[in-house]
Amino acid sequence: MCGIFGYTGSRQDAPEMIFKGLKGLEYRGYDSWGIAVKNGEKLAIERKVGKMTGGISLPKSNLGIGHTRWATHGGVTTENAHPHLDCAKEIAVLHNGIIENFQDLKSELLKKGHKFRSETDTEVVPHLIEDFVKKEGFVDSVKDAFNLLKGLNAIVVVDTKSSSIVAAKNGSPLVVGVGDNEYFIASDVVGILPYTRDVIFLKDNEMVSLGKTISLFSLPMGEKQNPVVEKISWNIEQAEKGKFDHFMIKEIFDQPTIIRNIAQNYSDQVEDLREVIDNAKGTFFIGAGTAYHACLAGVYLFSKIAKKHVNTAPASEFNYLEDFLTKESLIIALSQSGETIDVIEPLTRAAKKGSLIVSIVNSLGSTIYRMGNYKMLLGAGPEKAVASTKAYTAKLAILFMLSFAMVDKLSGARSLLLMAAEEIERILKKENLVTLKELAKKLSKKEHIYTIGRGVSFSLALEGALKIKEVSYVHTEGLAGGELKHGPIALIEKGTPCIVFAPKDDTYDAIISNAAEIKARGGIIVGVSSEKSPVFDYFIEVKDSNLTSIITQSVPIQVLAYYMALEKGYDPDKPRNLAKSVTVK
Ligand code: G6P
Repeated sequence: MCGIFGYTGSRQDAPEMIFKGLKGLEYRGYDSWGIAVKNGEKLAIERKVGKMTGGISLPKSNLGIGHTRWATHGGVTTENAHPHLDCAKEIAVLHNGIIENFQDLKSELLKKGHKFRSETDTEVVPHLIEDFVKKEGFVDSVKDAFNLLKGLNAIVVVDTKSSSIVAAKNGSPLVVGVGDNEYFIASDVVGILPYTRDVIFLKDNEMVSLGKTISLFSLPMGEKQNPVVEKISWNIEQAEKGKFDHFMIKEIFDQPTIIRNIAQNYSDQVEDLREVIDNAKGTFFIGAGTAYHACLAGVYLFSKIAKKHVNTAPASEFNYLEDFLTKESLIIALSQSGETIDVIEPLTRAAKKGSLIVSIVNSLGSTIYRMGNYKMLLGAGPEKAVASTKAYTAKLAILFMLSFAMVDKLSGARSLLLMAAEEIERILKKENLVTLKELAKKLSKKEHIYTIGRGVSFSLALEGALKIKEVSYVHTEGLAGGELKHGPIALIEKGTPCIVFAPKDDTYDAIISNAAEIKARGGIIVGVSSEKSPVFDYFIEVKDSNLTSIITQSVPIQVLAYYMALEKGYDPDKPRNLAKSVTVK
């Protein structure tokens, strides 16, 4: 969601660096943006509605902060864009999260004569700090103001008098980049990567002060802590588009390498997890959006391969399902960002009950990563397109390895995954892309599309539909093949397209029958299979390799969704209304 970037050091081009830093975080989704830098004794500020085009026209400075806003409190206006200032314009504040008691705080501040310029909850913070600095230092003032806020929040404050940045959080991610006598602060490591790979992940209830030196404190009391510097293994090239037009297609092409890496290097990690799962009484996979679809696939893979029952629910629903959790329950959380609040909430509750948590995430140091009693990284590298592709197949590959590990068949899993990687490379060959582009042209003209699958491919039907609707805005609904005739078939009319996932497994005959039922009612069938069936009007060939079709068959649909977005003139990397990392409920 909102992006944050701040700098303090000796470079004089802070405005440009912050602008560039925020551009690097654009993928998180935003509707307005703003930057404040120190300009003598005051702050110079620029805020705008819409995308970050052009450049920045702020004076030279070596200290400042910037923010991309995804509106929650108050409409999308320049006045509501961050940073927000105190009355004297010496303190600027950025904020991610929701201040639940902002109305009460605001009424108090108004009574004291503070002037508000926006409708946001955030603006209470600079005014609160302004009051505190009259009687104590800047760091204590930020601490005391932050302690008054209710809800899950992260704030970053710049102060002209002390020439420093102070940040505090009890929700939403913040990471500090440690350079040579300079510091960076951002909402995720991708922003910091161009400058340094030495980072400190701020934990909840911690506060950091960045000036000539760095000081870390715990909240609410402010005791000094020792900062732990970690090294990021991602590199800047991984976070750039390179020869590709968009991140989405670049990330689709990253998939074979990632899957090979998992096949070749994850055996020990999955073996370790096997024991944890074996000892648990009740295992639950949870995730949101695409990650939930991976969870659902995991349930089928565990049943089919490991002969083991595991359960799943969308993370946002798990809150209402977890009354039965005990100390012996195991929750396996899947997440790309590691910051999805819908996942963090139920995990927090499960942890309180003493249940064990396994985090399988892409982002080192993220909240969900840290919450895990056992942790595993996806190794997918930075994923910047909002619609998740490579993090999804990485999750599937790990679940695949894990389910084989449960029955001592890891070597089988490894070779199947290597074959899957090869098949993805074949699918992504130029001639196949041309065919998918042609099909995308036709499908993008449709109002409704259906996707169906059975067994493990049911999760693929849901994920395929999500991918298409996310980036092309064409209404696409994923269904279990068998559920069609229990209602949705009423919607099929002449020319309605249906994408049918038909791997040559035990679902093949039944799903082909479902396809025939749709065709008989005028539907157009796009078959994704290793074998061409007469029922298919269009055929997307994907070779089978024993349940890895769940991975390979997802790839042409990712490509199809990408081309559909282009066909309709949309930016596939930044779909409307969506954010990459959803840190509010
Ligand atoms: C958002 C994104 C989705 C993603 C979901 C879960 O809704 O737009 O692409 O699948 O969050 O994200 P996570 O980072 O937890 O995998």
